[in-house]
Amino acid sequence: MKFQAIKGVRDILPPESALWTRVEQTAHKVFGTFGFGEIRLPIFEPTNLFVRAVGGETDIVSKEMYTMPDQETAHIYGLQHSLVEWKIKSGDLQTAEAFQQLTVSLLVFIMQAQQENLIELEEVGLDAVNDLTTAAKELHDLISNRSDSAEALIWNQVAELVERIRLASGTLIVGDDLSLRPEATASVCRAYIEHGMQTLPGNVKLYYMGPMFRRERPQKGRYRQFYQIGAEVLGTSDAPGIDAEVIEMLMSFFERLKLKGAVLNINSIGDKNCRPAYVEKLRAELQKVRELLGADSQRRIETNPLRVLDSKLENEQGIIEKLPRIAEHLCADCRAHYDEVKRQLGLRGIAYQENWRLVRGLDYYMRTTFEITAPGLGSQNAVCGGGRYDGLVELLGGPAATKGIGFAIGTDRLVLSLQEAGEGETQGGPAGKAGGPDVYLAWFGAAAQSAAIGLARRLRDAGFVVELPAVEMKFGKSLGLADRLKALHAVIVGDNELAAGVFTVKRLSDGTQQKLAEAELFSYLRAARTA
Ligand code: HAM
Repeated sequence: MKFQAIKGVRDILPPESALWTRVEQTAHKVFGTFGFGEIRLPIFEPTNLFVRAVGGETDIVSKEMYTMPDQETAHIYGLQHSLVEWKIKSGDLQTAEAFQQLTVSLLVFIMQAQQENLIELEEVGLDAVNDLTTAAKELHDLISNRSDSAEALIWNQVAELVERIRLASGTLIVGDDLSLRPEATASVCRAYIEHGMQTLPGNVKLYYMGPMFRRERPQKGRYRQFYQIGAEVLGTSDAPGIDAEVIEMLMSFFERLKLKGAVLNINSIGDKNCRPAYVEKLRAELQKVRELLGADSQRRIETNPLRVLDSKLENEQGIIEKLPRIAEHLCADCRAHYDEVKRQLGLRGIAYQENWRLVRGLDYYMRTTFEITAPGLGSQNAVCGGGRYDGLVELLGGPAATKGIGFAIGTDRLVLSLQEAGEGETQGGPAGKAGGPDVYLAWFGAAAQSAAIGLARRLRDAGFVVELPAVEMKFGKSLGLADRLKALHAVIVGDNELAAGVFTVKRLSDGTQQKLAEAELFSYLRAARTA
């Protein structure tokens, strides 16, 4: 049997991983200079956290999450969902009987779990459990007392009870569902509330890096396990200077990495005072052109008309261009905030493009939204997205006055773009400039092995990358391997060297060779490193 990584998930191998390390280390450095501290978050959270924060209607939550029941109550969860999903054909009393028996099993499992202290009946939903119990009993009596002639007559009552059981099962809460995190802003807000961080002085500035999970259709720059480097500012101030500084930090990070051709797009999507009226206006205009739109956009007229503006469909572009624009419908406060964000970006010499169609695919945003595109990525060219989310902490049960803004960089895409621009060579890795070790230590004979082990340790302590063969090899084979590993030097230790108290060092690029005592060898290698 041959195993392969699952679809949309990949390994990141050397030398590419060295570039990842450099990117992450640069983030630690740059974000640190802006006063951000690292937060390490769990990879999974209660599903409801994401439903609440990101929005149950968004693609990310409704279609793309990897969700699983909590292990201890998985059996109850499975039964509960079987009941909810079960379809019974009209008049099929036999299946209805099986359905009734399953309901009894569900109730038994719930009682057992309660006795084992895995769940609290109050939390599961006392009314629903009572309703299930009476409905199951009624259904049992109805079915077992039936006479052949009355089967058709009782069916309506059976169907009603089945429906009652399905509804009651659907409302049971047996332990939380868990989901692999599709993003991390929700977790940061959860942690902010959980640890009472509102009592900390000033704004709370946090950054994170790590894998996220979304069940999307994989393609270049789009994976099911992908990585983000993100940052969030939480506190009571929503000063536009914070928005601008967060963007400045991002641009400094990209500059430090020599990412070329990054374009910053910004927008304001208003707040709860002005956006609803705009959304209604947009919806009304979209209704007028409904027939010209594709199925996705048609659906979004009802669920989230703003997302229609995101459409990449060729034939919808002309229509979208004529739709009303949010910039013309912002309230005075949102307009002033947006104008000040732009002025603050100007103060920092940051170039930007205004893009009125930039609405973002997560529900928590308000006012400032932004995205950065980078070259070399094809259609998945957004290397970073972010925005303001005042109100999210309150929505999750935290202090009402809390404001927030942040971003997340797609690390996979950032790395791809750097590679495409030729900034992704192997340098920066632990191995020397050529991508191989500084020293290949070829030893011949038992006495030489012991000397070589000691020398390897001293060289490594001094920071050199050393390859030490674990078993003795013939001279030609050993030096051949040194070549193939792209070592800069072969250091040879044999009986002659041991007798003379020297090492033979051979520069593999041109074959020049000399005998050096240990101190000279170190100076020679140091000089070669800086040359
Ligand atoms: P997002 O726009 O969903 O925002 O993701 C941010 C970035 O993650 C995207 O611009 C993209 O580079 C990368 N990304 C997203 N999905 C994938 C994927 N399937 N494969 C590869 N890369 C991907 C958020 O996640 C927000 N939490 C950002 C934020 C933080 N807003 C405020 N604070």
